[in-house]
Amino acid sequence: MKIECRNVSYLYDVPGDGWALTDIGLTITQGEKIAVVGPAGSGKTTLIQLLDALILPTKGDVLYDGMSVRVLSRSKRLPSIRRRIGVLFQFPEHQFFHESAYEELTFAMRNLVSAGSTEIDARARSMTDRFQLDMDALKGMSPFNLSSGEKRKLALASALMTSPEVLILDEPTAGMDALGRKELIHIISTLKDTTVILVTHNQEDFLGIVDRVIGISKGAMVIDASRDVLIDHLATMNEAGITPPLVLTVQHWLKACGCGLDRKFFDMKDLIGYLSAQARRT
Ligand SMILES: Nc1ncnc2c1ncn2[C@@H]1O[C@H](COP(=O)(O)OP(=O)(O)OP(=O)(O)O)[C@@H](O)[C@H]1O
Ligand SMILES: [Mg+2]
Repeated sequence: MKIECRNVSYLYDVPGDGWALTDIGLTITQGEKIAVVGPAGSGKTTLIQLLDALILPTKGDVLYDGMSVRVLSRSKRLPSIRRRIGVLFQFPEHQFFHESAYEELTFAMRNLVSAGSTEIDARARSMTDRFQLDMDALKGMSPFNLSSGEKRKLALASALMTSPEVLILDEPTAGMDALGRKELIHIISTLKDTTVILVTHNQEDFLGIVDRVIGISKGAMVIDASRDVLIDHLATMNEAGITPPLVLTVQHWLKACGCGLDRKFFDMKDLIGYLSAQARRT
């Protein structure tokens, strides 16, 4: 599904609040992997709530395969769009509303795609295996009693149960330990045809698997760059209060010293491996 934001601005209905987003223009094509970065309060969550049609723009429009969110909303057809989008909220417990974690996991399959119980059970089994969650334990457990990392895994597994075309993740690795982060990043990296839009404060975590980075500052889009040219936007990032990924900063320093590399690195381990090999050779 192609998603377009046309001159989107958003104002929360709270007296005294300024615009949360101003004049955002954006086209996202099917299968793209995008990281949305920006300081706290810059408008990242607001942007992805607009992309998921949870809120409607105050000005401008969002189009899904060319269909206006306003028209879809007026004709009560938004559920047909939301069904194609999986979401992981910044605080996953805000999206839980079932007594058992298993019901939570299977809700969308039961209600949105009306699958049979054998199919649901098989899908739940494969999804819990993939996320290293214990499906039988989930049946007798409240989702609210899971650890914060497990809640995040459950919320992501629930979103993936129906194989959505688009996956929107708000800080998917926040509060997770190193192993959990690695597992989650690996799972996201295997979603080849799915559009993934993720908000993160840890660019280091995701630079290896995204192809585009969008930077938001004070409600404005200050960066929309492919990962390959992100290194040319480090000054803008710093001005906007966004800490650039160290792996890009180091390559920038090397270039400034006249030691530019003949290839690009997005993972610090790969860069160090390459530099060590070069050092051994000289
Ligand atoms: N429900 C709300 N009602 C009123 N104002 C809100 C609401 N949610 C967010 N805002 C305001 O809108 C602006 C953008 O908030 P948003 O949550 O989109 O930022 P964010 O970039 O996701 O921040 P963080 O990194 O802390 O999650 C902030 O000034 C915030 O105070
Ligand atoms: Mg947020």
